[in-house]
Amino acid sequence: MSKKRLWITRRLSDATLERAARDYDVVINYDDTPGTAADLIAASAEFDAIIPCHSEHFSADVVAQFSDRLQIVANHSVGVDHCDLPALKGRGIVVTNTPDVLSDATAELAMLLMLGAARHAVAGDRIVRTGNWDSWSPAFMVGKQVTGARVGIVGMGRVGRAFAAKARGFDMEVHYFNRSALPDDQAQGAVYHDTVESLLGVADFLSLHCPATPETNDLMNSERFALLPEGAVVVNTARGALVDEDALMAALDNGHVAAAGLDCFKVEPGGNPAFSSYDNVFMLPHIGSATRQTRDAMGFRALDNLDAFFAGKTPQDTL
Ligand code: DGY
Repeated sequence: MSKKRLWITRRLSDATLERAARDYDVVINYDDTPGTAADLIAASAEFDAIIPCHSEHFSADVVAQFSDRLQIVANHSVGVDHCDLPALKGRGIVVTNTPDVLSDATAELAMLLMLGAARHAVAGDRIVRTGNWDSWSPAFMVGKQVTGARVGIVGMGRVGRAFAAKARGFDMEVHYFNRSALPDDQAQGAVYHDTVESLLGVADFLSLHCPATPETNDLMNSERFALLPEGAVVVNTARGALVDEDALMAALDNGHVAAAGLDCFKVEPGGNPAFSSYDNVFMLPHIGSATRQTRDAMGFRALDNLDAFFAGKTPQDTL
């Protein structure tokens, strides 16, 4: 039987690409530039399957121009806000994602951002690196202690729970908002709030772990930042769409929010240059899942989904 034709839009891990080349008639974009709308439309006529990343945008308009060949979009991401799911499903195209395998890596990065934001990582690194560290005093770079503090988690899915587990390692008191309360074995003692507003009132540290949807767009706006305790620290490793960036800057300007750790921005790549003047904002370039182990696991999970689909089964991560 001839191999199915597969397009891999970005440079995935070597192990993933080797396995894909073994099992599929694969074209790999070694240039590693994001696939454009025109690329996706052309690919829909040439390939049976695509493994994209969140950098390729399957809008309704793009999907409407697809030919009938493409059967499955096996995302190399857990987030699928770059895919218009109703449009893809309407064309009979199966869509999968890669949950579970990136939860720990993303939760690790959320911890890094939380700690770095709380303890002046940006300013501290700069002062040493630039040779400007010329004095020390007990009042110097005093931060906010994480150990024992209250942390509020928005979205207690897999990543939120992995973050909660790591926060417990710092003896944090874990609170969460979720569409519904978790069973005890998953909540592990975390306190459920049935509204975001209720959660914000106790979130000395706030970490966002929910998907970007029309409902969560600008979830953190000026009214909600104002509900946080004075001096709160805000962390976002989920999606930039969740945070009104102007409102966050206003809350940093008036000191209500003490610091932020951001891995995601409204505009990516690039981020928001206006944050550059804030030494209390610790930023990274959307690398939550970027560990070697996790990249392999994401690639294998996407391939597992493809293998199942072409074996006539329903892939485990069908959306
Ligand atoms: C995800 O998997 O959604 C990460 O943000 C990387 O794309």
